[in-house]
Amino acid sequence: MTIKQGSHPQAPRCYRALAGHSVGVATADGDGVKLTRIIGSGAVAMLDPFLLLDCFESENANDYIGGFPTHPHRGFETVTYMLAGKMRHRDSAGHEGVVEPGGVQWMTAARGILHSEMPEQQQGLLKGFQLWVNLPAAAKMSPAGYQEYPPSATPLERRDNGTEIRVIAGKTDHGTLGPVVNHYTYPTYLDIDLPENTAFTQTLEPAHNAFIYVISGQVSVVSESREAEQVELGSPATTPVLSAKSLGVLTLGELVQLQSGPKGARLLLIAAKQLNEPVARHGPFVMNTRAELVQAFADFSRGVF
Ligand code: CO
Repeated sequence: MTIKQGSHPQAPRCYRALAGHSVGVATADGDGVKLTRIIGSGAVAMLDPFLLLDCFESENANDYIGGFPTHPHRGFETVTYMLAGKMRHRDSAGHEGVVEPGGVQWMTAARGILHSEMPEQQQGLLKGFQLWVNLPAAAKMSPAGYQEYPPSATPLERRDNGTEIRVIAGKTDHGTLGPVVNHYTYPTYLDIDLPENTAFTQTLEPAHNAFIYVISGQVSVVSESREAEQVELGSPATTPVLSAKSLGVLTLGELVQLQSGPKGARLLLIAAKQLNEPVARHGPFVMNTRAELVQAFADFSRGVF
């Protein structure tokens, strides 16, 4: 990804533009689960406070049946959101649950948790996302906690123009509030389904980092500068059209304005507060310093988690 120079100004701007775009990297994690790493390696190593975004999608059980056997996390939050199929999680403290399509598990791993995440099916399509959201230094060693919501608890906003928005976190401009409460990074997490050639606008905290991920169809980011270009130069829009499986990182600003293509679009719009703290990460541990990382490995091997 090439991020345009000066595309992340400190001063808020009105409309957010596309700062850069990329596609993920095919990889495997857990016990051989094939997935696409969208944030966390390759072009976008991190977008503060987002440390990782994985998409797993397969109809072939061999690609996912191994799941993610027992593993630790410390120092951040893991967010599992399902589009198809089911995922069962169990942890060392006795918590257990199944995440279903439209449902979310927002786990604050904080000082440490040991858990497994396994597909709750032997066949058929499994499709979903795991997002890692960093925690501020002051919360990295807090007790672990969960917020888990079935699809019935994640509101689906239906608009007159056919737009549907599943609200996981944050609030839409029409006032629908997601169930996740988070006073660390104040996230917005929207699953947006746009009919063909439909415009969509959402207000965000101007200083929050934000991105879109196109699940299907085509989307363009309509910024103020594009409108100005058209007026001044009379030229067609130069904003690239993002197609399915593309990540679009947005500049800072108050508003994101999107336009779907002729076949509509489904996308995630995700934003959160930047932490602007040093990051020391290795595998499932994300701390602020190397010494804290070494401590995390030591605690894990001592069975403290
Ligand atoms: Co995990």
